[in-house]
Amino acid sequence: MDIYEALYTTRAMRRVKSDPVPQDVVKSMLDAAVRSPSGGNSQNWRWLTVTDRSTVKELGRLYAEAWAELNATFYKGRRETAEASGDDATLRVLSSAQWLADNFEKIPLVVLAFHRNDPSGASIYPGVWSLMLAARSHGVGTTLTTVLGTFKSKEVAELLGVPLDKGWQNAAAVSCGYPLGRWGLAERAPVHDVVFEERWGEAPEWTVNGSLWNG
Ligand SMILES: Cc1cc2nc3c(=O)[nH]c(=O)nc-3n(C[C@H](O)[C@H](O)[C@H](O)COP(=O)(O)O)c2cc1C
Repeated sequence: MDIYEALYTTRAMRRVKSDPVPQDVVKSMLDAAVRSPSGGNSQNWRWLTVTDRSTVKELGRLYAEAWAELNATFYKGRRETAEASGDDATLRVLSSAQWLADNFEKIPLVVLAFHRNDPSGASIYPGVWSLMLAARSHGVGTTLTTVLGTFKSKEVAELLGVPLDKGWQNAAAVSCGYPLGRWGLAERAPVHDVVFEERWGEAPEWTVNGSLWNG
């Protein structure tokens, strides 16, 4: 797959089939993840794959609680503003996120990424994104989620036997599966609106109308 196709179309693919992800594909995703950079090449990460139905179901119960908490706080105002202003794009994201919370137990594979001793907290995310790009190249949809680590870290650690006393923290839980829907180009604010040149606030001389990769 062309690298730009992967970069532009690796979206939050929450609605997926229950069909298992073959072991060769899982291996390829994880092997790509561990090729990614980390600060000082510390590789202070662990990757935990979960397919066992009862464990995924329990993760799903925790996920739904965590999502409900986020929904009632952080997203409450955003949802209300979106409803009032007819902001369909935001409402679509929230409805898709709700689908994942309601259907988490059907997700065939969850990959949890753990890190430790990383004050920046940044070293794990190149690996998570590489895992997601590798999955995309195999036709597997993924969603990077963080609500479990934010709201349910102790419960997740207990469920999965994670040694919190050794400093391991859950940075992400990536849901993975073959898409129910289709891949599409990620819509974003235009690049020239969020880039400065030389000094803060100085707009670049160029603009990009639409997207430079269109398939
Ligand atoms: C750091 C981070 C945390 C995220 N956490 C969640 C999450 O907990 N649950 C969820 O459904 N999506 C989560 N997402 C997915 C985003 O909502 C999604 O990528 C964003 O809305 C853009 O949509 P797109 O990827 O389809 O273009 C997260 C994404 C990132 C980068």
